[in-house]
Amino acid sequence: MEERIDVLSPSFRANPYPHYAAMRTSSPVCQVDPGGMWAVSRWDDVLFVLKNPALFSSQGFKAVMEPPWIGYNPLVHSMLALDPPAHTRLRGLVTRAFGGGTTRRLAPKVERLAEELAGKLVGEVDFVEGFATPLPAFVIGEILGLDPSLHVFFKRWADDISSIAPEPESAAHVVQVRTAIADLSGYLREVVAARRRAPADDTVSDLIHAEVDGHSLTEEEILDFLVLLLLAGLETTTHLLGNTMILLAAQPALWDRLRGDPALAAPFVEEMLRYDGPSHALPRIATAEVTIAGVTIPAGSLVLALVASANRDERRHADPDRFDIDRNAQGNLQFGHGIHTCVGALLARMEARIALEVLTRRFRRVELGAGEIRYNRTIAIRGPVVLPVRFS
Ligand code: HEM
Repeated sequence: MEERIDVLSPSFRANPYPHYAAMRTSSPVCQVDPGGMWAVSRWDDVLFVLKNPALFSSQGFKAVMEPPWIGYNPLVHSMLALDPPAHTRLRGLVTRAFGGGTTRRLAPKVERLAEELAGKLVGEVDFVEGFATPLPAFVIGEILGLDPSLHVFFKRWADDISSIAPEPESAAHVVQVRTAIADLSGYLREVVAARRRAPADDTVSDLIHAEVDGHSLTEEEILDFLVLLLLAGLETTTHLLGNTMILLAAQPALWDRLRGDPALAAPFVEEMLRYDGPSHALPRIATAEVTIAGVTIPAGSLVLALVASANRDERRHADPDRFDIDRNAQGNLQFGHGIHTCVGALLARMEARIALEVLTRRFRRVELGAGEIRYNRTIAIRGPVVLPVRFS
């Protein structure tokens, strides 16, 4: 294959899919930059990684998201980056909060907010700021019972924390990210203190009163958990909505179909997740030497399970680079697989479906604006952080 790919380079960030296709064809397990991580790109091999947590530890998040220049990143001390049995104990604590009951309870509120936000999309607007961020911020704010006036800070915190790369961009970047972590932790610490004084019917109170093996969670464990819940559902959903608008601006016929038949919103979201969902690389550490597709990966290596590539694997889906709302794709790996499968998948699907229904009902078209689209720069997820659009 071509020379070693840098997954943080601007050309890769702008469009990684041709690179994934080349990897799947000629080097399905290969080393990439920065740092020589091992990228696994075919469906079967990605599934093998995700199904074997004993061989592929989620401590990979720590390697990617807590480089030495960061200090402490609560996200990588949460269950996202833990392996069994610690992960198993914590995961059971929050599944209730993310089930069908919560999704049904929140759906009418999400629809009202989507209508309200859509009403302000006049002229050229940044879709990320005007719609794709406030919607998921509201949802996670509701679940955690957070003060709505603070939603505006979520995006900055999420942007700063997800900008963590092996090397900082500048001295100012170091300060900015560390400040974001300190501010976010400080804010959540206050929320926990307030719930200790006055418990409420929300996830924060549930975590304070939860017992795992006869012990309450420590203050740090609660904070790590809350940071995960806040961040995991925010940028991912924002990027899903952003990627969706980019596709619909390029394919107006799809907009017309959705407008004509709102029932297509749900299958559209499934195909969107497959075609250009936000999750790209799930990091793992190989706990022992392992051979995949004939390539031997040394013990201790950082492995990237490329879920976005797996979802375009021609061995799994015919004509995978075509967006096909009628495809009825059997499963995709956007929400992961196995013990760490996303707990917010129902919520994310509901948010995206309602967003599509509301926007296509109200507007005849979406077009890209004159301003430049800017993508995020992080290994795990991909989507626009600035997306100028015009609705008509
Ligand atoms: C389109 C939106 C979303 C996508 C694509 C997505 C994707 C993922 C993926 C791939 C994982 C597994 C990570 C791994 O195996 O290493 C995951 C885990 C997780 N997600 Fe999501 N997610 C989305 C939305 C949400 C939402 C809305 C929430 C909550 C509000 C959420 C909360 C979580 C949590 C708590 C975990 C950790 C689960 C564990 O470690 O057991 N996610 N997500």
